[in-house]
Amino acid sequence: MKKEIAVGDGLRQLPIRPIYLVSCQHKGKKNIISVGMFALFSGKPTLVGVGIAPSRYSYDLIRKSGEYVVNAVDENLVEAVRICGEKSGKEVDKFKLAKLTPEKGIKVNAPLIKESPVSIECKVIREVEVGDHVWFIGEAQAAHVRENYDWSDGLMFKWIGEDGFFYEVGEKIAKY
Ligand SMILES: Cc1cc2nc3c(=O)[nH]c(=O)nc-3n(C[C@H](O)[C@H](O)[C@H](O)COP(=O)(O)O)c2cc1C
Repeated sequence: MKKEIAVGDGLRQLPIRPIYLVSCQHKGKKNIISVGMFALFSGKPTLVGVGIAPSRYSYDLIRKSGEYVVNAVDENLVEAVRICGEKSGKEVDKFKLAKLTPEKGIKVNAPLIKESPVSIECKVIREVEVGDHVWFIGEAQAAHVRENYDWSDGLMFKWIGEDGFFYEVGEKIAKY
């Protein structure tokens, strides 16, 4: 028999909460935001979404440009996730502060992050206001992976902000 726990505690037990660095650009202003609200909405077409609170500087940039890039993170990017999740692009240049390098994509003007192992270029097709975030649903336009990247090296996919820990993708356990 299961015991009832607070909804927030229940959510923390689920294997959700991926972490990404989402890069964006409008009129030459580049920015990066750490994002836990990410979802795959459709296979064909490939639609993904990121939930961004309207108070974020990135919200304006994504809204105005209609583009963003989802960049996966690994253990080398923990500090960058902290910086991009605490500082606002209104006040600082997060590429400089987090020592990240913008790289030109092929389909959108928003930059890829060179240090990220996997980057997906997206164009916004819909905005959905839900609760305290706006979901920018984007159609994936192009995907990039670092040469020789082996995803079993581990990507960060769980963030338990409340106890202050990041977790990475676990071990291979069974064949599909
Ligand atoms: C691990 C982590 C995940 C986060 N996830 C989100 C998210 O999904 N959506 C969001 O709006 N803010 C999220 N935040 C908070 C923003 O990253 C943070 O407010 C950031 O400073 C906003 O930057 P900006 O003003 O330059 O856009 C997260 C922060 C951290 C550390």
